[in-house]
Amino acid sequence: MRGIILSGGLATRLRPCTTVTSKQLLPVYNRPMIYYPLNTLIKAGIKEILIIVAPERAGDYLNLLGSGKQFGVKLTYEIQDHPAGLPEAFMIGENFIDDQNVALILGDNIFEDDFTEDIKNFKKGAKIFAKQVPDPERSGVVQFDAKMKAIKIVEKPKEKISDYAITGLYLYDHRVIEAAKGLKPSPRGELEIVDLHNWYLSKGELEVGFVKGEWIDAGTFDSLLKAQILAKERLQDKLII
Ligand code: G1P
Repeated sequence: MRGIILSGGLATRLRPCTTVTSKQLLPVYNRPMIYYPLNTLIKAGIKEILIIVAPERAGDYLNLLGSGKQFGVKLTYEIQDHPAGLPEAFMIGENFIDDQNVALILGDNIFEDDFTEDIKNFKKGAKIFAKQVPDPERSGVVQFDAKMKAIKIVEKPKEKISDYAITGLYLYDHRVIEAAKGLKPSPRGELEIVDLHNWYLSKGELEVGFVKGEWIDAGTFDSLLKAQILAKERLQDKLII
């Protein structure tokens, strides 16, 4: 399994904090934000990790993380020129993924759970991870039938279909590259990751796991503050980097 951390974009919503650096390098308590998703991948046993960054910020990432040797992994970097949606990660990472399975994690997603077993046991298809939240409209959302089988997936639905948010860790087999290449931009002009989930769902090859511990998408000032407190109070003894 290869790992990709998508850490692009200029996070204009978080200005002025992101005027001179990347959102995913802002401090979350005592570490830069990206340490948390990096920790999630390394802890789960992934040794080869691609970090996708904005050209303006690439030097900062290299200075901070370098080759990855200090963490016992190999880090490589690619540039995302103009962010056009999360599935772009699979086009940018095509050569890196090759014919392997891939775990994509978003650089601003902070998890308490340990995904070692999920990643070790993943063979084929796709696996996403859902969590019940009070504000599902902020995320991709998955709706289940009475037997808890996923039936519908929608990006930031306006009408409530379920309170299960889809978190920012995704496992796919290498076919995700072809699937991503076939996507068309949504009305908001982006390629949507939910369309990849739906591609696998329509083939009966999408598995949905559940996140038990805390999960925070630290992309707003309020969620960043929550992430700081979570990191201080609950994550310190779970971090290996
Ligand atoms: C993205 C995805 C969404 C997912 C979320 C998790 O949204 O588009 O499906 O639920 O990440 O953090 P964004 O945070 O980019 O708005």
